[in-house]
Amino acid sequence: MKKIAVFASGSGSNFQAINDAINEKSLDAEISLLVCDKPGAYVIERAEEAGVEYFTFFPKQYETKVEFETEILKQLKARDIEFIVLAGYMRLIGCTLLAEYDGRIVNIHPSLLPAFPGKDAIGQALEAQAGVSGVTVHYVDSGMDTGPIIAQKAVMIKKEDTRETLQQRIQKVEHELFPRVLQDLFNQEKVGGVQS
Ligand code: GRF
Repeated sequence: MKKIAVFASGSGSNFQAINDAINEKSLDAEISLLVCDKPGAYVIERAEEAGVEYFTFFPKQYETKVEFETEILKQLKARDIEFIVLAGYMRLIGCTLLAEYDGRIVNIHPSLLPAFPGKDAIGQALEAQAGVSGVTVHYVDSGMDTGPIIAQKAVMIKKEDTRETLQQRIQKVEHELFPRVLQDLFNQEKVGGVQS
C-alpha cells in the first residue's frame, strides 16, 4: 500500500474522491497526511471527517519557501511518505520538495495542457470560446503546470455553459480520472519503475 500525502488549498473534492477510492478499495494507498497552506480551507474538515492527519500552515509566517518546505519535508519524512499528490494546491513546488520527491509528485489540472495553464483554467477556456477543454494529470517540475503529461481526458464545452456548469462536468471527470491514474502509476512502479 502506497503511503501518500495530498496537498490541497481549497474545497478538497479531489481529496475526497481519492479517499473514497481508497475506502472502496479501488486505490491501494493510504493518505498519511494532508498538507494545506490555507488553515480555513474546507479540505481540513474533510480530513477530520476521514480521520486523516493534517499539517496546515500560513506561508506568510515563513521568510522563504525553502523554510516552509523544509518543515513540510520533516512532516513527510516522519510518516515515510512515498508519493505526493497535488489536488488543488495553489502554489508552485520549490526546490526543497522537488529534490527529495522528483518523479514522485503529480498534479491535476482542469484543462488539456499545455492549453490554459495557471490560474482559472476554466475561465480561460470560456474566455477563449474553446470548444473543448478537459483534465490533465501530470508529473510536477519547477514550472507552472509544465511537467510530463501522464493522462488527459477531454470535456466538450457547450454554448450555454457557464463557469459553474463547466466546472461541474470537469470536476466529475477529475474525480473519476485521478484515483484511476494514481492506481495505474502505483501498479507500474511495482513492475519496474515509472518514467519521469
Ligand atoms: C481542481 O479543479 C484541480 O484540477 C485544480 O484545483 C481544483 C481543486 O478542486 N488544480 P478541489 O479542491 O479538489 O475541489
